[in-house]
Amino acid sequence: MTPAGSLLVAEDLHKAYGSTPALVGASFSIHPGEVVAVMGPSGSGKSTLLHCLAGIVPPDAGTIGYGGRDLTAMSDAERSTLRRTEFGFVFQFGQLVPELTCLENVALPLRLSGTRRKAAERAAAEWMERLEITDVSGKRPGEVSGGQGQRVAVARALVTSPRVLFADEPTGALDSLNGERVMQLLTDAARESSTAVVLVTHEARVAAYSDREVVVRDGTVRDMAGV
Ligand SMILES: Nc1ncnc2c1ncn2[C@@H]1O[C@H](COP(=O)(O)OP(=O)(O)OP(=O)(O)O)[C@@H](O)[C@H]1O
Ligand SMILES: [Mg+2]
Repeated sequence: MTPAGSLLVAEDLHKAYGSTPALVGASFSIHPGEVVAVMGPSGSGKSTLLHCLAGIVPPDAGTIGYGGRDLTAMSDAERSTLRRTEFGFVFQFGQLVPELTCLENVALPLRLSGTRRKAAERAAAEWMERLEITDVSGKRPGEVSGGQGQRVAVARALVTSPRVLFADEPTGALDSLNGERVMQLLTDAARESSTAVVLVTHEARVAAYSDREVVVRDGTVRDMAGV
């Protein structure tokens, strides 16, 4: 049933919010190390698809297989362990903890899974260096630019070496130059560590960094292979 070599496979997902259908038979799959851009009009179901794939929102029907396990059959506790240990997230707004420094923000996912402070901060510092934001380590998120904050969020998503990175409009708040720089850093880092990236974006420029594009329209996914 699972396409050969796929890491994450969703089949025939349905999700409605009250009487509003968000997903209507959406299917999706991604290989390790693959970067897939999810495009489509506003309200078409992109974020809902991403949230279902990431185990944040349960679909009403359909299956989601991850590494041979069915996400929809797991307990909440199992799903949240999976999210913490195997997945990374970059969202557009409000994702950094304002009271923590940028370094502490990047180290946070490791701290939450039990890594000691020194080791966590060492790993965080390495990722911040790769993303060229070492200079904001000691600042709080409110004291850095939008582009720097976005890079802090990317570093934080990658610090646990996730198998899948979910990014919903990760460059939405950035001008095109900064957006492209962040995409370059994100995709380079992901390809180096064979992290699969599910990338929701409106922008063709951003999608150009992907290996493959799919389009969500009215709650279903269409492949854009060869387009
Ligand atoms: N929490 C929610 N409660 C009610 N309806 C929702 C909720 N989230 C999404 N929807 C509805 O589900 C549909 C799909 O929304 P979704 O957020 O997945 O779209 P999207 O493609 O990500 O759009 P955008 O590009 O604007 O972010 C829309 O009709 C939306 O109004
Ligand atoms: Mg959305």
